[in-house]
Amino acid sequence: MFKNLHDLLTEAERLNYTVGAFNAHNLEMVPAMISAARDAGSPIIIQTSVGTARYVGMKNFVAVCQSMAEDLLVDVDLHLDHAKNFADIKDAIDAGYRSVMFDGSALPLKENIMKTLRVIEYAHPRHVSVEAEIGTIGGTEEGVTVKEGAYTDPKDAVAFCRQADVDALAVGIGTHHGQFRSKTQLNFPLIEALHKVLSVPMVVHGGTGVNEKDYHRLTENGIRKFNVGTELLVTWTKTAQEKFKTTEVNASLRNNIVPCNEAVHDIVFHKINLFMNKNNNVLMA
Ligand code: 13P
Repeated sequence: MFKNLHDLLTEAERLNYTVGAFNAHNLEMVPAMISAARDAGSPIIIQTSVGTARYVGMKNFVAVCQSMAEDLLVDVDLHLDHAKNFADIKDAIDAGYRSVMFDGSALPLKENIMKTLRVIEYAHPRHVSVEAEIGTIGGTEEGVTVKEGAYTDPKDAVAFCRQADVDALAVGIGTHHGQFRSKTQLNFPLIEALHKVLSVPMVVHGGTGVNEKDYHRLTENGIRKFNVGTELLVTWTKTAQEKFKTTEVNASLRNNIVPCNEAVHDIVFHKINLFMNKNNNVLMA
């Protein structure tokens, strides 16, 4: 079924697992991702940046996700990632996206709350879920150390959630967007402190840079949405570079594109199996 984020994360909370949220950088990746979720027997979140949503067309993303969710019997949420403008959020909601992220993390707390409330006011009556961000996730540069101020302050997070009824909260816990050459050091004492005081599902951004051995502990500490983007982009591009280097120019495009999509399928399938937290046998109970 084509579902909203709230419904997917409520179920994940109930059964103690994490839902993978995978950034689609083009339309080609989407069937591979949803098929991987079907093969792993898990829900999935497909997310797009505003730029990719505009490039492919928001309604085109909606059409593909909705029809595949129904045909393959997979629970799919289509999510707008890191939107900063209300106009983009409204367009995505009107096109049929099932959740949106309002990223007001660069704003003062009060302004972040006020702008998030405006998004909620438009989204919730339309059964669209809202993710917000507090603290910052660190830049796209390799090896950038998150400064103290970029971590999420548990007091601010509690104040935020008291005032804004968000469905998920992205938190600054030591991850960096775009980190694909090294792995990050997560701040587990902070994650545990946030888990103690928050009842809203938490979101990890910059998932490419997170060591897979840390996934289980994140799930155990209330991380319900886990974003992976760069690893898919890098793998798709590397595979395409290899294929296109040697291809005959009049060979079927499929010969070169299908291996790129298969590589995405394999990564998504692998990650989802870890996110399902089977170590714990929770889903098997
Ligand atoms: P990575 O590209 O670093 O995996 O992060 C994805 C993300 O958090 C998208 O919001």
